[in-house]
Amino acid sequence: MKICRTVEEFRRARPELGKLALVPTMGAFHEGHLSLMKKGKEVADSVAISIFVNPLQFAPTDDLANYPRQEEEDFAMAESVGVDAIFAPETASFTQGIKTTVSVGGVSRLWEGEHRPGHFDGVATIVSKLFLVTQPDIAIFGQKDFQQCAVIAQMVEDLNFPIQLQFEPTMREESGLAMSSRNEYFTPDQKAKACHLHDTLMSASTQIKESDQSISDILLSSQRSLTDHNFAPEYFAYVDPVTLEPKEHRISNGRLIVAARFHGVRLIDNIGVFL
Ligand code: PAF
Repeated sequence: MKICRTVEEFRRARPELGKLALVPTMGAFHEGHLSLMKKGKEVADSVAISIFVNPLQFAPTDDLANYPRQEEEDFAMAESVGVDAIFAPETASFTQGIKTTVSVGGVSRLWEGEHRPGHFDGVATIVSKLFLVTQPDIAIFGQKDFQQCAVIAQMVEDLNFPIQLQFEPTMREESGLAMSSRNEYFTPDQKAKACHLHDTLMSASTQIKESDQSISDILLSSQRSLTDHNFAPEYFAYVDPVTLEPKEHRISNGRLIVAARFHGVRLIDNIGVFL
């Protein structure tokens, strides 16, 4: 497994990698990340990952300084699933002094875009850089960040990146809680209770499929249920899966998306509702 700390090093390594799948990450790996890397092995000759805790996508009040970092463990985990190359640039060399922003219109303005102003500009800028440095044939992202997938899809289409995107289903704990590096902030008891976020999505999905309650009533009672369980919801919405526009009436492939704080930790999750 080759570890590249600079753009030049990765560029030198690139020709040997052949048809390449890239999994962009911010490290702190869990099973969800590993499953994306394994997927990469299935669809290409080689799989590369990037590990970069991207300061451009964190607001000053966000958890950038405390974001979990465990590079040695991450390298070992990546090696255990057969990753061929890692691009792990130093923050200073990769983003300091950067004056260019990639800003995706439309889909990035809603939900996470409203609650985390500038977040998707940071994501789109860094993902563009990662694509240009690593030149992958395929790029793989997890659907836990559903809106991020939609933003990147729009960007790849608009800027004609010659890259095939693959979005993989969310990996979950047995309780249903979506795997996330931020789950590390919870005590075991809090982590056990955090699965109520997924329970609420599931029960809203059942109500959409099986009841004739209005969408707005279902969303309201879901938010109430979260509040009753000590969550502070930021949004709980039923949306179009491509534009992320809210839907007031049932559609065949709607998506339920949610962001809520639980014991100070901001969680996001989503599920498809297929009629
Ligand atoms: O999903 C993430 O971990 C990040 O947003 C990404 C895509 C690696 C960009 O920094």
